[in-house]
Amino acid sequence: MDLPIGWLEPVVRVQTLSDTGSPVIPDRYIKPLVQRPSFNTQSHSQNIPIIDLYELTNGSATAQKAVMDQISIACREWGFFQVLNHGISDELVDGAREVWKEFFHQPMEVKQDYANTPNTYEGYGSRLGIQKGAILDWNDYFFLYYLPSKLKDHNKWPSQPPFLRDVVEEYSKEIVRLGKDLLRIFSINLGLQEDYLQGAFGGDDIGACLRVNFYPKCPQPDLTLGLSSHSDPGGMTFLLPDENVSGLQVRKGDEWITVKPARHAIIVNIGDQIQVLTNGNYKSVEHRVIVNPDKERVSLAYFFNPKSDVLIKPATELVTSTKPALYQPMTYGEYRRFIRTDGLQGKSQLESLKSS
Ligand code: OGA
Ligand code: NI
Repeated sequence: MDLPIGWLEPVVRVQTLSDTGSPVIPDRYIKPLVQRPSFNTQSHSQNIPIIDLYELTNGSATAQKAVMDQISIACREWGFFQVLNHGISDELVDGAREVWKEFFHQPMEVKQDYANTPNTYEGYGSRLGIQKGAILDWNDYFFLYYLPSKLKDHNKWPSQPPFLRDVVEEYSKEIVRLGKDLLRIFSINLGLQEDYLQGAFGGDDIGACLRVNFYPKCPQPDLTLGLSSHSDPGGMTFLLPDENVSGLQVRKGDEWITVKPARHAIIVNIGDQIQVLTNGNYKSVEHRVIVNPDKERVSLAYFFNPKSDVLIKPATELVTSTKPALYQPMTYGEYRRFIRTDGLQGKSQLESLKSS
């Protein structure tokens, strides 16, 4: 099915709904009971692992190995971790978050100039998936491409606030550097050639795109979600969270762990394509976002993806007689089309790739 050039029903900005000050949310945002967040009074003390990368470049061989091991365990058991001393300066981290907050606080007419369509999703959006009458999430977003270079178009990035494009350029360059470093670390940890995963992603011509999420205040946070439960479809994600407002929850068994962001940390998570490439050794874990009655929240999710036309399949070294290939080969481009038509739905897309 070709994606339509326009939305099949009018687009409503969540920010506009929030700004009306109404004490109730429209029915379309009310989730079925089983999906609603539980705000139990007993708050959980658990957090995802926090890994300091400092020793990786500065430490002894033993210290380096210790960090590598922490990363390995986090990829296998959590699919999520926060990194400190990731090489991106505090100023750049704060600047990137700040410039996007400013973007969302501009008048609606300014943002509407960038309104997106289902075809590429690039620009200012308020939903994922095209189904008419679907239940929606409580967020607006801005989506843009950085790599491959042929998809990068500065004219589609906001021209205001004035420094936004420069800040996004600088931040993107750092994220791609970090992404390549981590692919090498993952490859070594898996016992593969150190350039294996980078090669499997398509070499230098990888994909990198940014989704900036804006979660407005919500008068009935117990009935809805900022982002429904999903696993990230791509390779891996670098999330810059809002340090003032928590909201990201990660599934651990039957529980939802609310992430407590460390200062200036970047959250890394494994996406579906790395789960396939590692034959399930690394986990692409479900996560979701809860919203807040008093505070809005901004996050920058940078998706680091394989080239869209290379076949993604389990590495032969990780396929054994006791652990046969769990997934059938598919390109990331094909895989992504499910999400663009149906929206994110837990881990159902990945399940559909399972070899029978
Ligand atoms: C995402 C995502 C989490 C957040 O954009 O895929 O999971 O905290 N975002 O906004
Ligand atoms: Ni996500």
